[in-house]
Amino acid sequence: MDNEIPKRGKLWLWLDERIGLGDMAKLVKKKEVPLHRHSFWYYFGGMTLFLFAIQVSTGILLLLYYRPSAGEAFESIQFIMTEVEFGWLVRSIHSWSANLMIFAMFIHLFSALLLHAYRRPREMTWLSGAALLGLSLGFGFTGYLLPWNELAYFATRVGTEIPGVIPIVGPFLRRLLRGGDDVTGATLTRFYGIHVAILPAIVTVLLGLHLYLVQKHGMSRPPSVENDAAKRAMPFFPNFFLRDLVGWLCALGVLAALAAYFPAELGKKADPFQPAPIGIKPEWYFMAMFQTLKLLPSHILGIEGELLGVLGFGLIGLILVAMPFLDPGTTRGKPSRLAAIFGALLIGYSIVLTYLGYTMSPTR
Ligand code: HEM
Repeated sequence: MDNEIPKRGKLWLWLDERIGLGDMAKLVKKKEVPLHRHSFWYYFGGMTLFLFAIQVSTGILLLLYYRPSAGEAFESIQFIMTEVEFGWLVRSIHSWSANLMIFAMFIHLFSALLLHAYRRPREMTWLSGAALLGLSLGFGFTGYLLPWNELAYFATRVGTEIPGVIPIVGPFLRRLLRGGDDVTGATLTRFYGIHVAILPAIVTVLLGLHLYLVQKHGMSRPPSVENDAAKRAMPFFPNFFLRDLVGWLCALGVLAALAAYFPAELGKKADPFQPAPIGIKPEWYFMAMFQTLKLLPSHILGIEGELLGVLGFGLIGLILVAMPFLDPGTTRGKPSRLAAIFGALLIGYSIVLTYLGYTMSPTR
């Protein structure tokens, strides 16, 4: 029949012969998204991906003017904000999109956790996602220092001090991060290299793996709807993709509004010889950890409080990463309540400690 074999142009045939366009089109046509009462959460991986693309494109534009040295970094950002055409917009979008991307990623992570999407055969999808989470937090931490302003300088001093409490390897880690004993221009150059070369290179590979695995296994159905008689689904292309696009367009509108009404601030240039101002705060996604360390007593049962805190964070991170292997029912297709209880506790704890971080009076 005529309409079974779609008519293709010469360019399509040329490309099909060389890169297998037809096979790719078949793959896209086959892709489906399950429809059930939790389907809404499937949008957040794509949203994270969209915001990551915004980060890459605005980051490249910023690179054209940014200078990574203690003597010039602050001034180059000042130049971007005041002299470069739309420089303020590009920088503000980069800064807001970073926050929204991490927020979208947290929603994606907790929905994957609570819907048990980590179960066999998606363990590697989960592990690559967990690595992407760590790398994204690394992007946030290293990017924060790049404007070389007072707030960022002292927050980085506090932040790079923390791994120093770990016995044996701590001092080495601190020096490795700082490129010396203190936060200096050497730290800035190092963070710049990590932010624009090392992290993007690793993220590209891991993101490729993550997305490949999502294609390979398809979207999971959560256990609560797995046994529904009618396994409804929606074609990914164009139905789900068009809905994705609507979400991305809304995100773009929110980003533009945030950037226009609340442009990224710059503050005062960092001066290492000045005392740290009161009320140094990290980015919001580190606030719960920062506040925990602040509230811990200096010693608990003879062990340094900060050390216990850091070990506690390590343990929580380990449980999260290893969830596909810890959930005892996962291989039998009957996930236990472990993930739900752990996820709910972690969300509750993070919200309360973040709230305290912003509302308790600063002591340092
Ligand atoms: C840069 C960060 C990330 C990007 C761009 C990303 C992207 C995506 C995309 C596009 C999907 C398919 C749609 C969806 O499920 O929403 C997906 C699925 C998935 N992601 Fe991520 N992801 C990221 C981080 C994470 C993190 C931090 C985790 C958890 C540790 C994770 C775990 C998963 C899992 C288990 C799936 C499969 C979901 C299912 O089959 O139901 N991802 N990811």
